[in-house]
Amino acid sequence: MRLTAAVLALFLVTAAPAGADPRIVGGTPVGSIAEYPWMVALTTAGGYQYCGGALVGPALVATAAHCVYQKAPTSIYVVSGRLDLTTTQGAVTKVTQYQIAGGYTIPQQGKDIALLTLANALPGPVLPIADSSAYLAGTTGTVLGWGRLAEGDTNKSPVLRKASVPIMADAACTAAYTSYQADSMFCAGLPQGGVDSCTDDSGGPFVVNGKLAGIVSWGKGCARPGQPGVYTRVTAYLS
Ligand code: ARG
Repeated sequence: MRLTAAVLALFLVTAAPAGADPRIVGGTPVGSIAEYPWMVALTTAGGYQYCGGALVGPALVATAAHCVYQKAPTSIYVVSGRLDLTTTQGAVTKVTQYQIAGGYTIPQQGKDIALLTLANALPGPVLPIADSSAYLAGTTGTVLGWGRLAEGDTNKSPVLRKASVPIMADAACTAAYTSYQADSMFCAGLPQGGVDSCTDDSGGPFVVNGKLAGIVSWGKGCARPGQPGVYTRVTAYLS
């Protein structure tokens, strides 16, 4: 009897509120990694995934600066070709060195981009970089990651997930966040929230028309109305 009550109470606190999608980010699971062959996970030596990234050259991964900042390159592992992180599908590659954008401090100050050099070249294909025409407000992009399914969730998705989110006008993003910088960031989300990237999706790609336009950087909570996801404006850092 007591046990039943405890189990029921546990169910009540873990159940999602009415109308909420427990798979927040409003995303769906990816069916095959072959659909996004350039998508990689960053993990610890123990295999704990904490960020995403995209292969942009045979031995080059684009990710967020905050994913690697002050970490030893040898402590970063890049997992490629693996849809479900509980499997051993694909390959694990070490990082020999990385570069982060000059002047990077915290995501809210921009410059949240890093390039990792891999110990071995991967077969590819690589994700091409977008051009500045990608950021037109209303353009829908795809964001990918193994991060949280809801704000504050401790469970993560073992299977890669994707969500479609429209790019917002700079004015709307400025209204949402005082630290927004249009030259180095962009926002994506729905005014009513519900679809977003979340914790541990950082560093993952925001793809517009098959090209890398953004990198998951920051946001207030996840998928909140009026608090869109903020992405690194990749074209601002090409050289
Ligand atoms: N900084 C987070 C990370 O480390 C990603 C935040 C993205 N947040 C959002 N609401 N889009 O994984």
